[in-house]
Amino acid sequence: MSGRDVAAPDFYTYAWEPIVSVERDGCFLTIGWADGMTLRAFDLWLRENAVGAGGVDPATREGLFDPAELTDDIAIESATVDDGGALRIRWALDGADATYHPGWLRHVAQGRHHPGSWIPSMSPWTSSTMSDLPTHDGSQVLGDDETFAAWLNDMFRFGVSRLRGCPVDADFNVSLAARIGAVRDTNFGAHWDVKADVSLAGDALTNSTANTNRRLGPHTDLPTRETPPGFQFLHCIANEAGGGFSTMADGAAVVEALRAEHPEHYEALTTLRWVFFNRGPGIDHRWSAPMIDLGVEGAPLTLRAFYPVRGFPDMEPDDMPRAYAAMACFSRLADSDRFKLASAFVPGDVVGFDNRRILHGRDAFESGGHRHLRGFYIDHDDVRSTVRVANRRLDQTSPTSVS
Ligand SMILES: [Fe+2]
Repeated sequence: MSGRDVAAPDFYTYAWEPIVSVERDGCFLTIGWADGMTLRAFDLWLRENAVGAGGVDPATREGLFDPAELTDDIAIESATVDDGGALRIRWALDGADATYHPGWLRHVAQGRHHPGSWIPSMSPWTSSTMSDLPTHDGSQVLGDDETFAAWLNDMFRFGVSRLRGCPVDADFNVSLAARIGAVRDTNFGAHWDVKADVSLAGDALTNSTANTNRRLGPHTDLPTRETPPGFQFLHCIANEAGGGFSTMADGAAVVEALRAEHPEHYEALTTLRWVFFNRGPGIDHRWSAPMIDLGVEGAPLTLRAFYPVRGFPDMEPDDMPRAYAAMACFSRLADSDRFKLASAFVPGDVVGFDNRRILHGRDAFESGGHRHLRGFYIDHDDVRSTVRVANRRLDQTSPTSVS
């Protein structure tokens, strides 16, 4: 066998990275490459990832072993490097032979199988480090893979990224959403309007403060959910209203400033809980959590900050004074020129942002104008999958620094 036609346990294409050594150490193998990189691999994990030898189904590239079948009887009889630099293992229990793609093994050694891989790292920003929103060509986004990937990558780096020059027809965001992933539906619908004809403000049909002409302070949408929507996309179809500037602040930077400069407020906002409550007719969404939800290690930051739906402090009464003081401090920081960028929506703009990281808002509208945004949400999982696929494809033709 040449080695180069070895199937990996997934459907991606890996560069051929020949291994040069394999040493056995009990139930582990230490696999080595010429540049000194090594991978210490556990035998049962290797057996689970044997393509076509009972570990991974070649058709689905999914694992076949029920964990109950993984016993110590599955031992390595022999492990060698073949002529092409692939790992070959003979298994003692059933005599099965398995060959492992060395490029696939190396991507594990490099840690590129971790969820954070193929996605840019977060770059927190303030108004002094970023003077305007990163902007990409909206006229190219549906057809050009590089523009699409660059726009999404900036959404992970900076939490916010804008397309300018998109079509202004009301269905464009349906096409754009289809390119990104499954839309997260809510009680506002899959694709919803923020449409504040000033003459309609106060109409009984408006079901959110967003649908009035009021100022909206820095906030995140739908903190009333166990998992608030991951990314939010706002497409500007018309903006003839005076005022109404859109504001964005990087919650990651605000949280870091709070931690460094006001540790007592940071402690209060990361531990004391609030009940967020949608009060619309016919719905009763509610969730209790801290305003700054750090989650478990590696989980995305989740800010819950939308005062129109913050219903009740969920804490001991004695904690309420410090909770309110901390919340006020956090909101003043987020609303300060130190963190906030203000920009006008231009028809044809689409601003995509991390709804759990970026604190977005808008100024109040002046009278006599029409403003129509159309929005949708897509959860983090779906956008991450899409950006990984896009970056892996581009990396095969032009290696990038995205890891
Ligand atoms: Fe909002």
